[in-house]
Amino acid sequence: MEPSQLTPKDRGKWAASNAALAYIKDGMTLGLGTGSTADIFIQQLAGHVQSEGISITCVATSNRSTQLAKSLGLNVADFSAVEKIDLCVDGADLVDAKKRLIKGYGGACTREKIVEYSSGKLLIIADDSKRAAVLSGAVPVEFLPFAGRVVESGLRKLGAKKMELRTIAEGRPSMTDNGFWIVNADFGKIANPLKLEEAINNIDGVLENGLFARRPADIVIFGSSNGKVQKK
Ligand code: 5RP
Repeated sequence: MEPSQLTPKDRGKWAASNAALAYIKDGMTLGLGTGSTADIFIQQLAGHVQSEGISITCVATSNRSTQLAKSLGLNVADFSAVEKIDLCVDGADLVDAKKRLIKGYGGACTREKIVEYSSGKLLIIADDSKRAAVLSGAVPVEFLPFAGRVVESGLRKLGAKKMELRTIAEGRPSMTDNGFWIVNADFGKIANPLKLEEAINNIDGVLENGLFARRPADIVIFGSSNGKVQKK
């Protein structure tokens, strides 16, 4: 899709994603994120690989991104089959001044974190609405359904004010690619994201959470609806 056909928000995503193509090098192993911004990037990447005649290996962070990348002719390998990932490109739900993130509204925070924390570099692409002075609001927490009660009480002890189970049609819990469920836990303003990231993961039954503070992004590209980008 051409930028002129996009909504203002999607124009920002498109601009950021387009600027990320400058980081793609021949022979690279590239992590692919998940979500609407990552979808735009995967589409642009497929065109870029063809037009530049370069060869890259991709590792995707969800079944959705795997399917999209493969459908566009990109070479997608299993995470366990690659030795290292040079760069990972993904979107985010919130980015603070220290490039710490909240991610996972697309339901893929666990695989995203595994791939991104082990990548040489993490490049985040986002429209301007994702900027935040302080991380706040809902943090996705992926957990084992069996442990729901323990997880809820653990999150409450850590200060969660509101919790909402991620659902699909008819209020049924939405299942992640890993067969787990997700609760969005709202902690208000998060004073110490690193401490909270670790504390949530210490609750029995929690698989992973969407705070990315232990390893902030290396580069963030924000895109505006007027097509301008800002790199941080
Ligand atoms: C998925 C994610 C996404 O990167 C995040 O939710 C941003 O999504 P979008 O690009 O659709 O705004 O973390 O788990």
